[in-house]
Amino acid sequence: MIKNIAWSEAISVNNKKIDDQHKHLIELTNNLIDHSNEKADSALISESLDELVKYTRTHFRDEEQLLEACNYPKLNDHKEEHELFILKVSNFCMDVMDKKATVTQEIITFLVEWLLNHTSKDDLDYKHYLA
Ligand code: FEO
Repeated sequence: MIKNIAWSEAISVNNKKIDDQHKHLIELTNNLIDHSNEKADSALISESLDELVKYTRTHFRDEEQLLEACNYPKLNDHKEEHELFILKVSNFCMDVMDKKATVTQEIITFLVEWLLNHTSKDDLDYKHYLA
């Protein structure tokens, strides 16, 4: 069983739009966790993974625009983190669509850990640069 995750003030970046997007990412992640824990239909699990990945792309784009606007000095490193994640997860999603892979608990655990680590460390690093 993978445990649900929760947003907390400790990971607030003091920007409503980004905090709301992080909250929504957590909500979508929890949907995926719930479907996986309930051993839901594999199409439903793939659908929730797809929704999470699509929203993650939107969030990364918005966050990068904001960091660019406030001249965040580590923007390139941050973008690289985002790109690596998207590349890894997109490849995995393609394999799922091609039926070369299934959405396993290991993959979901990887996603959850990456998101928790990224929002609680990398994202918090830019907090004081936001206008
Ligand atoms: Fe909120 Fe860098 O992702």
